[in-house]
Amino acid sequence: MRSPKDFFAPLAVGAPAPVREIPPLPSRMIHFFDPGNEKMVAKAPDIATKVDVLLGNLEDAVRADRKEAARQGLVDVAKANDFGQTQLWTRVNSLDSPWVLDDLITLVTEIGDKLDVIMVPKVEGAQDIHYVDRLLAQLEARAGLTEPLLVHAILETASGVANVEEIAGASPRMQGISLGPADLAASRRMKTTRVGGGHPGYLVRTDPTGDDLTEGRTIYQQDLWHYTVARMVDACAANGILPYYGPFGDIRDVVACEDQFRNAFLLGCVGAWSLHPAQIDIARKVFSPEPSDVAWARRVIAAMGDGTGAVMIDGKMQDDASFKQCGVVAELADALAA
Ligand code: GLV
Ligand code: MG
Repeated sequence: MRSPKDFFAPLAVGAPAPVREIPPLPSRMIHFFDPGNEKMVAKAPDIATKVDVLLGNLEDAVRADRKEAARQGLVDVAKANDFGQTQLWTRVNSLDSPWVLDDLITLVTEIGDKLDVIMVPKVEGAQDIHYVDRLLAQLEARAGLTEPLLVHAILETASGVANVEEIAGASPRMQGISLGPADLAASRRMKTTRVGGGHPGYLVRTDPTGDDLTEGRTIYQQDLWHYTVARMVDACAANGILPYYGPFGDIRDVVACEDQFRNAFLLGCVGAWSLHPAQIDIARKVFSPEPSDVAWARRVIAAMGDGTGAVMIDGKMQDDASFKQCGVVAELADALAA
């Protein structure tokens, strides 16, 4: 059996390339732009000062006859700008498309030293990551790159969800996984036509009171993505990589966007995509812990001393496990403050 490390080994003679650490930098919002769109390109340097990750999108939402323009646009943007601490990612076309080979060859060769992460859509299983991993190793060796590019998979096919654990562990290049609710809905033959978020028809009613079985019940809308997000979070946590909610398409519905992002945050996701400047601040707010939660976490940590045993704080029992949960919140706050 080959281990993921074998797939990572560069083809060039010499010492194996070092495994690149997942950047400790925050990635609360992955901001999508079309590098073939002049208006968006003009705004990119300013947007880059407001986001954690800027992503040049080459896949869906870019018309077939604009694929080359988007690819070249990203090369030009990357060469013309230094985005400092802001990470630069790209989403290449899917592995079954006629464009992906040129995407990877051009981007790694021309701007491989400027890119941090390559997002791969419609990943079906570990074999897709192995293919990208091997190809990247060849291209990096030829370009003389010293740092390996990282890979991010979009979870947006039924097979991908079935194989999410093996995808998460398929290569040391794996940086994270995003939920792709729109393609996933189509792949599963769900009956939604939205990009992420809920659906007013997917709900539960409370038990009826009295004899009236139809009226007077409270209605709760359910989260269509709970199962997949929870499964993705487990797969990522078990493999030391990062989970993300993906896109929320209704730009005007800032309330639903915030609710959906928060559900994902509370389940363990570290960020989401922003498709419009209006979603940048929503993601920053949601994926940064509330000051009151951080203060509580620090209080528990202080009271727990070495982290063992049990204490009562404001009538609530805290023990080794709640100490660890509070550690997650405090560590995130420290990382974002750094
Ligand atoms: C994203 O790519 C999605 O399909 O939701
Ligand atoms: Mg998609």
